[in-house]
Amino acid sequence: MGTTLITGAYGQVGQELIPILTRKFGMDRVVLADIVKAPEKFSKYSNHNLDVTDREKLEKLMSDHDVEYIFHLAAILSASGEKNPGKAFLTNAIGTHNILEAARELSVKRVMIPSTIGVFSRETPRRNVPVNTVMKPRTMYGITKVTGEMLGNYYFQKFGLDVRGLRFPGLISYTAPPGGGTTDYSVEMFHYAVRREKYSCYIARDTVLPMMYMPDAMGAMMALFDADLQRLRFHSDYNISAFSFSPAELEAAIRKRIPDFTVTYAPDYRQEIAEEWPETIDSSEAARDWGFRAEYSMDSMVDDMLLNLGGVRR
Ligand SMILES: NC(=O)c1ccc[n+]([C@@H]2O[C@H](COP(=O)([O-])OP(=O)(O)OC[C@H]3O[C@@H](n4cnc5c(N)ncnc54)[C@H](O)[C@@H]3O)[C@@H](O)[C@H]2O)c1
Repeated sequence: MGTTLITGAYGQVGQELIPILTRKFGMDRVVLADIVKAPEKFSKYSNHNLDVTDREKLEKLMSDHDVEYIFHLAAILSASGEKNPGKAFLTNAIGTHNILEAARELSVKRVMIPSTIGVFSRETPRRNVPVNTVMKPRTMYGITKVTGEMLGNYYFQKFGLDVRGLRFPGLISYTAPPGGGTTDYSVEMFHYAVRREKYSCYIARDTVLPMMYMPDAMGAMMALFDADLQRLRFHSDYNISAFSFSPAELEAAIRKRIPDFTVTYAPDYRQEIAEEWPETIDSSEAARDWGFRAEYSMDSMVDDMLLNLGGVRR
């Protein structure tokens, strides 16, 4: 039996996925790669320094470890991408093409590539966005993630490579810090609240965005990974959704549990990115094809985050 490779393994999503894949396949069959150094807690794994834009090194790593499945998480997210669009293009577009080419050449069985609500734009309907819709993103992140979705669908249709992907909303978690996205404010707000510090939010108080708690995002990714290929009517671009809120709504929900918590609002360049994105997403195709269902409501997510970050009980 071969191994499962995670690229971008030490990021916000990767650090959550590692224990899940370890339980599924066993530690000796999980291979971790990232451009940054492995955190100490993963030192017992097979860790590799890899830049996904380096195709030769990627292919050598894959053949040395007989890679059977890939979870391709290496990416430059929306806010960081606007600071360095050239790097975002190379990492997200060229890096994803390298993964797909290497997977095709080395007969990998399945490739998972998360996409994002960042593929949408102001031309997209604001509410209940379907899978197939208008996408004209203006960020380099959005442009490269649409490219990734289309490349994934192309590799499935042209070469029969089993590529699967889902569009994550903003992800909220407490294990690893978020890596430079537009919705990072939601995680930061919790950290400030449990430290009893005032938070200055870079998104306007009433901007509503789709969000999801990490356990539901991981559950969705694994359900799609395990799904019967014959039942999939889409490949790289499933919508998933849980709840939507504005910064002011999150502030109020936290203040219900930590009454002296306060937030000020000073929107910056990330506000422009947020305004491109819709408020709610239609996830009915994912529900129909592979049984997607989010367990956490906004309220149960807030309770769980505060309990895990600071022992705050309702
Ligand atoms: N976190 C979210 O809210 C969110 C939302 C929507 C979609 N996504 C998607 O989920 C996936 C994972 O995102 P994340 O939140 O874990 O991001 P992250 O920024 O936390 O982690 C990405 C990881 O990729 C690594 N990386 C960057 N450039 C690399 C390169 N050239 N080669 C190898 N590794 C490189 C980084 O060091 C980092 O550890 C991405 O595809 C992202 O688009 C995330």
